[in-house]
Amino acid sequence: MKYNSVLLLLLACSFSVYAQKGKDKKIKPRDEFVPELMAKMTIDEKIAQLVQYTADGTVTGPKAGINYIEEIKKGNVGSILNATSVKYTQELQELNLKNSRLKIPLIFGYDVIHGYKTIFPITLGETASWDLEAAELSARIAAEEAAASGVHWTFAPMVDISRDPRWGRVSEGAGEDTYLGTQMAIARVKGFQGNNLMDNNTVLACTKHFAAYGAAEAGRDYNTVDMSERTLREVYLPPFKATVDAGVGTFMTSFNEISGVPATGSKFLLRDILKGEWGFNGFVVTDYTAINELIPHGVAKDSAQAGELAMRAGVDMDMVGGIYMRNLKNLLKEGKVTETQINDACRRVLEAKYDLGLFHNPYRYNDKKREKQVINKKEYLDAALNIANKSMVLLKNDNNVLPLRKEQKIAFVGPLVSDEWNIIGSWAASGDRYGYAVSVEEGINKIITDKNKVSFDKGVEILKDDRSKMQAAIENARKADVIVAVMGEFENMSGEAASRTNIDLPGIQKEFLAELKKLNKPIVLVLMNGRPLNLTWENDNMNAILEAWFPGTMGGDAIAQTLYGINVPSGKLPMTFPRNVGQVPIYYNHKNTGRPYLGATDPEQKYKSRYIDVDNSPLFPFGYGLSYTTFKYSNLKLSSNTMSMNGSIEVSVDITNTGDYNAEEVVQLYIQDKVGSVTRPVKELKGFKKVMIKKGEKKTVTFTVTPENLKFYNIDMIFTAEPGDFEITVGSNSANGLQGEFMLVK
Ligand code: GLC
Repeated sequence: MKYNSVLLLLLACSFSVYAQKGKDKKIKPRDEFVPELMAKMTIDEKIAQLVQYTADGTVTGPKAGINYIEEIKKGNVGSILNATSVKYTQELQELNLKNSRLKIPLIFGYDVIHGYKTIFPITLGETASWDLEAAELSARIAAEEAAASGVHWTFAPMVDISRDPRWGRVSEGAGEDTYLGTQMAIARVKGFQGNNLMDNNTVLACTKHFAAYGAAEAGRDYNTVDMSERTLREVYLPPFKATVDAGVGTFMTSFNEISGVPATGSKFLLRDILKGEWGFNGFVVTDYTAINELIPHGVAKDSAQAGELAMRAGVDMDMVGGIYMRNLKNLLKEGKVTETQINDACRRVLEAKYDLGLFHNPYRYNDKKREKQVINKKEYLDAALNIANKSMVLLKNDNNVLPLRKEQKIAFVGPLVSDEWNIIGSWAASGDRYGYAVSVEEGINKIITDKNKVSFDKGVEILKDDRSKMQAAIENARKADVIVAVMGEFENMSGEAASRTNIDLPGIQKEFLAELKKLNKPIVLVLMNGRPLNLTWENDNMNAILEAWFPGTMGGDAIAQTLYGINVPSGKLPMTFPRNVGQVPIYYNHKNTGRPYLGATDPEQKYKSRYIDVDNSPLFPFGYGLSYTTFKYSNLKLSSNTMSMNGSIEVSVDITNTGDYNAEEVVQLYIQDKVGSVTRPVKELKGFKKVMIKKGEKKTVTFTVTPENLKFYNIDMIFTAEPGDFEITVGSNSANGLQGEFMLVK
């Protein structure tokens, strides 16, 4: 089913069937209602709007030891996170309104990252689909289910660019590239917020983590970030800015410092850039206890000073830490923060609540009938399967060992072969795991009904050094034509607080593969993991490798359908896979340096920027992914070889499907600025299109390039395009393609 028809179906049913619970009150327009309300509020009531506590649901951070129920009874709370279900949120809202003199509703937030109940591939995996409609649709469905469960606000999209697979949170983002990450961020905000936040099947989105959290030194979570303003603005900020332009309602500050200033206390980030330069009118919530953490960061001597720093920096809401509740009133009395600052923060929060319709009807998300009808609808599960299929990345397929044939006898082995827990990944909100998520074994059994054709053995665990079941698995594999090993990480080996110094397949999985290899049968490795892994040995020893990420609720069906060719893999890597962890950080849009190593043919082998023990190239580059068919690129054409400052160039290329399967291809456009007033990357992604091309068919794909695509922060930190020579590369990944040149002229 084409996405737009599913999207329309979703929107239609959300209006026709689910008229909201209770009636909206008729109230004044926002710009009258909010000021009139604030005029009645005491300073305590204003400060309460800036306070968020966590309920008893999901745990997403260290214990804060605050009794949120008591605080709600005192009218001290503006928002609650981690409360879900119509029943629970309704109870808390009733408790709040009973104790709120001015009947100001709570706003309920929750981490709906890649699905609420119906879980989609982890965001890094979904990004591998390079399908913006898919990203918008999964966010739309997540919003439908979350809203039906009483949730008003999601702490997503996470838009942190990262070039370091040691960092576990790469699993939650869109990978290493600014352009791809920006497009995905926009799609996700649109999906979550829909066309009108007043519709009760939409949720407020929250762009996080502001900013540059993915650049933590050594990939160690929460670690120091230190970079030039140029790199910050060119690489890490664009996805954030794009979500402001897309109308995102909230931002979340990050835990890290940037060049000495913690983001949660950074006036430069929050007031100068976000609210100033970018004109952001929503509100800023901190990450979990991030104000308290200004003390260990060493920029605040106590919680009072931490609160002062955060308020002056432009933080509007304190997540869990209780610092605003305990200190703001005294800070105001001491003249360390101003009433204007508090009023501005309070206004932003009240306006968001107004936009959600919570003043019109605080229970408009509390509809038990809708909750039952919406969760895990078949079309949601169908969409989850479709998107998981599109996220599959085929990294190797020697002698077309894939797709498998139904007449073959296959031994499915590995610790994740029957897994229903890890398959939906981390940050899986209220997603059901055991007994609900579809395992690979379950998916295979739907396709292969002859039980003699398949066998399933774990053989080893993910981490434990337990060899007790390995031999039995090997014996079964001995009888097979092909071995399929389903391996990878635990879901909690990526995500928050899950950095790894070793990015190999964990445990003795590789040892098991080596034993299986002695059987001299083709081996297909299927991976479930939350980050790029070091697959150098696997690439040398496996016949095929399929990167499945953590593919979500329908993951087992997606993997099975891909293995048997019902789905033709079309995913492309959103992050570079290194040859080993020593290469990290390694990414495609790197600088050339003064001594670029030109590879084995370089006459100068020593005094070049290279390693003496491994090639500079990655194992698998950004944008890489194979298909069951083959594509031939030809006939690259530029409409002109010069572009004026207000002109544009049309770039076209022909792609022929020269293989045996109808398949999708992600055509990628990269541009290199050959000479600039500062050094420029060897190439940058500036466009992509995912197109279906039938076998034997040829399609022409076109891109429009304008000076806007060529802008960067020049030697004077002015964002501009400079005249000069540019090289265009169009291909199926970042490592090669057809090339053309043009000149930008004044
Ligand atoms: C966590 C995460 C953040 C999440 C928040 C609320 O610590 O860093 O991404 O949204 O707390 O759960």
